[in-house]
Amino acid sequence: MLKQEMADALNKQVALEAESSQAYLAMASWADTLPGLSGVSNFFFRQSEEERMHMLKLMKFINERGGYAQVPALPQPQLTFTSLKSAFELFLKHELMVSESINDLVEASLRLKDYATHNFLQWYVTEQMEEERIARMLNEKLELIGEDKSGLYLFDRDIMTAGEPGQ
Ligand code: FEO
Repeated sequence: MLKQEMADALNKQVALEAESSQAYLAMASWADTLPGLSGVSNFFFRQSEEERMHMLKLMKFINERGGYAQVPALPQPQLTFTSLKSAFELFLKHELMVSESINDLVEASLRLKDYATHNFLQWYVTEQMEEERIARMLNEKLELIGEDKSGLYLFDRDIMTAGEPGQ
C-alpha cells in the first residue's frame, strides 16, 4: 500500500510527464510548420508519445498500489521558438529537470522505506539516462552545424534514428 506522501509525490511526477508530453507536442507542431523539418517534427511527435507512456505507466502503478492516480491540469506549453537550437536547448533543460525529479522520488522512496516504489523507479532512472544522452548528443550536433544548410538537412534526416543503438 502506498503511503500518502509517496502517492502525492508520484502524482506530481504524473503531472510532469504530462507537461513534458505537451511541451514536445508543441515543438512537434512548430517544426511541422517549417519547411524541411519533417524529421525533427516526427522526432518530437514520438517524444511526446513516449512521455505520455511514462505518465500512463506511473498512473497504473499508483492505482495498483492502492493510491489514486490523478489526471492533472496542464499549463499551455511554449508554442514558438526563436530557432531550432533554442527548441533543442529547451528539450535538454526539460529532460534534466525530469531527471532531477526522478532522483527526488528515488530519495523519497528510500526515506519512506518503500522498496517496491524504489524498484519501480529504476526503470525511470535508466530511461532518463538515455533521454539525457540523446538530448545532449542532438544539442552537440546542432552546435557543430551552426547555420550550415547541408548540415541541417542531414540533421533532419538522421534524427529519426537518434534513439537507436550506436547513435
Ligand atoms: Fe519522461 Fe523524458 O521524461
